[in-house]
Amino acid sequence: MKIFAIGDLHLGHAVDKPMDIFGPQWKGHTDRIAGNWRARVGAGDLVLIPGDVSWAMRFEEAEEDLQWLDRLPGRKIFIKGNHDYWWPSISRLRDRIRGTSLFALQYDAVTIGGASVGGTRLWTLPDLEMPYEDPLDVPSLQSQGAPERSHDEKIFRRELGRLKLSLDSIDPQARVRIVMTHFPPTDESGRDTALTSLLENGGADLCVFGHLHNLGLPRGRTWDFVKKGVRYVLVSCDSVDFTPYYLTEVTES
Ligand SMILES: [Fe+2]
Ligand SMILES: [Fe+2]
Repeated sequence: MKIFAIGDLHLGHAVDKPMDIFGPQWKGHTDRIAGNWRARVGAGDLVLIPGDVSWAMRFEEAEEDLQWLDRLPGRKIFIKGNHDYWWPSISRLRDRIRGTSLFALQYDAVTIGGASVGGTRLWTLPDLEMPYEDPLDVPSLQSQGAPERSHDEKIFRRELGRLKLSLDSIDPQARVRIVMTHFPPTDESGRDTALTSLLENGGADLCVFGHLHNLGLPRGRTWDFVKKGVRYVLVSCDSVDFTPYYLTEVTES
């Protein structure tokens, strides 16, 4: 089973949200993702999607996006990103996608074909100098400006707990132990953070994340590095050229 990852699909089949306002590289991104996906991913493979799945605001509006995703080859595991306002309760979402090729995580884990995968959204790192601005943020939120720092820290602390829950849910005997987060747990240099310590001590082999867009990375050169035994990979769709990014392969037992 090959394992791929691609985040921030920002689908919008039922909502009017042209993506090329964020740059020409986004033009026709949904069709390009589908084409690249079908060329690379087989039916028995696994694709990890670390959040920002759809622009839909209500669950019903995300229906077409979920169907589109289900039709693509492979099994898919996804988590919630900061733009997934459509996300209902996890029980309602799991009821909807039961029996499909989709699986949703919410600070827990699932083991598929020798890979155990956990995940949570995370939040902006309070101790890391990273740009707060989300270039894909909706105007109504942009106009409110950045939240108070104390508010950020409260959410961040809650997400630390959720990351711990995710790690505790991962099967320690799995061939590969993967954590998906939407927000990055570190920066491009792999700087130590509260999150990287948790990942190192929690037995994660790999952490895939998204959220960062339009970084101007050379084509095919996303962040992909190992620090203190954990491999960190940025897979927001524009960072991986709108193509599912190959991570590793595991033999199913
Ligand atoms: Fe995004
Ligand atoms: Fe995001």
